[in-house]
Amino acid sequence: MERGTVIRTCGLTKHFNTARRKILAVDNLNIEVPQGSIYGFLGPNGSGKTTTIGMLLGLIRPSAGSIELFGQDMGRESPKLLERTSSVLENSPMYPYLSGRDNLEVFARMRGAVDHSKIDEVLDIVGLAKRAGSPSRTYSLGMRQRLSIALALLSDPELVILDEPTNGLDPSGIIDIRDIIRQLGEQGKTIFLSSHLLHEVEQVCDYVAVLNRGRVIAQGPVEELLHRGDRLEMKVNDINAASLALKDVSWISTIETDDEYLYITADEAKHPDINEMLVRSGIKVFEMKKSSNSLEDFFLGAIEEEHQEAGNA
Ligand SMILES: Nc1ncnc2c1ncn2[C@@H]1O[C@H](COP(=O)(O)OP(=O)(O)O)[C@@H](O)[C@H]1O
Ligand SMILES: [Mg+2]
Repeated sequence: MERGTVIRTCGLTKHFNTARRKILAVDNLNIEVPQGSIYGFLGPNGSGKTTTIGMLLGLIRPSAGSIELFGQDMGRESPKLLERTSSVLENSPMYPYLSGRDNLEVFARMRGAVDHSKIDEVLDIVGLAKRAGSPSRTYSLGMRQRLSIALALLSDPELVILDEPTNGLDPSGIIDIRDIIRQLGEQGKTIFLSSHLLHEVEQVCDYVAVLNRGRVIAQGPVEELLHRGDRLEMKVNDINAASLALKDVSWISTIETDDEYLYITADEAKHPDINEMLVRSGIKVFEMKKSSNSLEDFFLGAIEEEHQEAGNA
């Protein structure tokens, strides 16, 4: 069965008019979130993540562009579509004097009938079953964040939107959230996860859009972006002689070395030529492999490029 697209935005744009200036918070955003994916929305602070999420949830009115959720236009169908969606935003509401379980009951009652087995189920998913009876004000920040996720799961949403859910958490709290997200992904839910942390996206997401200053500068499967590298890792008998032999080659962009390896960036189609040149210079090549430049390099590189472009424009 072909996977559908759960979120599609087309030219989505938002500017805020402040007294001093017009801020372009989201600039012509086109993203497609595949059904069942864990989709990372990665960008530094101020890049437009929360504003985008606000528009996806119908809380912020777009200045231009359109949003489809579950293949239907948000404009006309928003209440019906948002019923299939839940979100965890900053400062999710909860009653501090009520226990975790009672908070869930209150929210369940607001939505209609209280399904106790559903409450047990969501407490279980977020690992709060044991502490469900304690007032939520006694919870750690991580536990409160997990309770917020439990609240979001009550309605059994197909799409869960999480805005920087690990902000401010300690390492173990971060691991808990990451595990919950993975678990939800395994259940087939579509997860839209905003983050400014590369390794977080690298670890849990299968798709990513990289956002900078309101614009998507790259998107696609994390695997593909990870292995986009045209960087070559080579083990040779004489690293110095090898870098000398290659140093004036015009189509090689960078040559780096460490104690063990020679790292070369050049168009992938040229990789065999590098080998040939080294062999012709009498250098023995023991190993030659494409090095997977991490999403981190990619992310930082992409942002740098964007800055340079902006500077040259
Ligand atoms: N209500 C608002 N009024 C004016 N500017 C805003 C408002 N909300 C966000 N912004 C601006 O829009 C940009 C994007 O903000 P935001 O979406 O919160 O980014 P992120 O969530 O990625 O940190 C920032 O420059 C921010 O200052
Ligand atoms: Mg934000």
